[in-house]
Amino acid sequence: MAEPDQPSTARMIDFWLGGEHHFPVDVAAARAFEGAYGPCAAIFRSLRDFLGRAVRSIADEGVDGFLVFGAGVPTRGNVHEVVPDATVLYTDVDPVTIRLGQRLLAGSDRAGYGFGDATDIGTIDPAQLHRFVPGWGRRPVGVVFLGLAAFLDDATLGRTLDELYGAVAPGSFLAIDFDSDELAAYPEALAMMGPAFRMRPPAAFAPLLGRWQPTVDGVVPVAGWRPEGVPEPEPVPEAFYGAVATKPAA
Ligand SMILES: C[S@@+](CC[C@H](N)C(=O)[O-])C[C@H]1O[C@@H](n2cnc3c(N)ncnc32)[C@H](O)[C@@H]1O
Repeated sequence: MAEPDQPSTARMIDFWLGGEHHFPVDVAAARAFEGAYGPCAAIFRSLRDFLGRAVRSIADEGVDGFLVFGAGVPTRGNVHEVVPDATVLYTDVDPVTIRLGQRLLAGSDRAGYGFGDATDIGTIDPAQLHRFVPGWGRRPVGVVFLGLAAFLDDATLGRTLDELYGAVAPGSFLAIDFDSDELAAYPEALAMMGPAFRMRPPAAFAPLLGRWQPTVDGVVPVAGWRPEGVPEPEPVPEAFYGAVATKPAA
């Protein structure tokens, strides 16, 4: 695969999670970011662990089809690894990451990877959607929207979540996170996130969920969403807040 000349936040996360699916340009960007902020591995492990608990909780409700937006690299505790009996369509807009994902999932008949702009579900190949998320629009599904809200402005995020709500069947779930103002104290690191990056206080995020109804767990720092096991001796900074929300069954 030709090496990209630009880093990707998704492949930087793969590096921080100890994965093998990134390039020197991603490692250089990850190291530069850590130079400006501090160690990142524990923070992204905590975010990936939230993905695991959120997705398992959705599967426990009987959901067996997942659509993942801004999916990044589908390894290191990603959706199809957490719920291997489910079918999963991963989507992203970054061509290098999509090719990586397609190569990783080449042997799978339960998980696929394709182009999908989260702000326009019409960009997803309908054949892939119906193959990997059977009954889309008619059966409850899980929508995974992690690491993405931070790159969408309020108007786009609100519209996108509302369109998703309209598209899924009642009984569907949304797993979502957003970035707190953790980086505000690290201007050099903040600048590295680019001009589209948005930090939000929880009170500003909750209304953007619109018709989606958060579970009783609420919108909380990801490490505190249905925590399992023994708490970390050194808690990670509250860089990400998350929630699982529902479109209630009719
Ligand atoms: C911070 S990474 C998160 C990756 C993964 N969800 C994770 O948590 O490890 C953000 C990802 O969103 C993708 N992305 C950015 N804008 C997007 C859009 N409008 N639709 C879909 N994906 C998008 C990027 O290409 C990147 O892979």
